[in-house]
Amino acid sequence: MTKRVGVLGSGTVAKVLARGFAAKGYEVRIGTRDASKVADVVAEGIAAGSFAEVAAFGEVVVLAVKGTAAMDAAALAGAGLDGKIVIDTTNPIADEPPDDGILRYFTGPNDSLMERLQAAHPAARFIKAWNSVGSGFMVDPQFPGGPPAMFICGNDADAKAAVVAILTQFGWSSEDLGKAAGARALEPLCQLWCAPGFQRNDWAHAYKVLRFG
Ligand SMILES: NC(=O)c1ccc[n+]([C@@H]2O[C@H](COP(=O)([O-])OP(=O)(O)OC[C@H]3O[C@@H](n4cnc5c(N)ncnc54)[C@H](OP(=O)(O)O)[C@@H]3O)[C@@H](O)[C@H]2O)c1
Repeated sequence: MTKRVGVLGSGTVAKVLARGFAAKGYEVRIGTRDASKVADVVAEGIAAGSFAEVAAFGEVVVLAVKGTAAMDAAALAGAGLDGKIVIDTTNPIADEPPDDGILRYFTGPNDSLMERLQAAHPAARFIKAWNSVGSGFMVDPQFPGGPPAMFICGNDADAKAAVVAILTQFGWSSEDLGKAAGARALEPLCQLWCAPGFQRNDWAHAYKVLRFG
């Protein structure tokens, strides 16, 4: 089992997932350009480092930074991403405010942030996950209808299988959207997930697929 996880980011998602992995017995480090932002997590025993140090540390790397900064953060992680499973939680949210509750993206329909990241780091094995649910439900969600579905995608089958195992451990079922181009469908799920939140303050939901057989 993978034991070392490097989480890149100092925001809510990075902290929730760093704490979640630590609680499940992984050895975790958290990466930031400014260690003062993660002092609370460090006080709990999770060591901090630069993006490069934490990426180099992880057998699995979690990318949990602002979408507009994802390419820059991945560049700072650099060769530390090579060969690694990189769980990409990011969304290409533009700086402009939402239109009637629909987030604006800086990517187009036949494009995605994860494909850009994968192209820039061909030796990394990006798997998109955790991008289309609120941080409060990322670890051990307790919905009345049972485990919700986490949509995932990425080119590397072994990396994807490892992420499916992690998601199962975190209380999720997985729905595979195929290779990296699946992110063109998966990243907009964040727009869908956030719409009821922005429109009527409804943030307490997740997805599940209903099917015959
Ligand atoms: N919030 C949620 O519930 C939620 C749910 C699903 C997915 N997501 C996605 O998860 C990602 C993280 O979201 P968040 O709300 O936790 O955090 P966030 O505020 O979107 O991002 C904060 C992180 O972005 C990094 N960053 C900002 N500008 C940078 C730059 N110029 N270069 C390098 N790094 C930079 C910061 O690095 P430093 O630490 O160095 O300052 C910090 O670690 C986003 O892409 C978001 O769309 C969020």
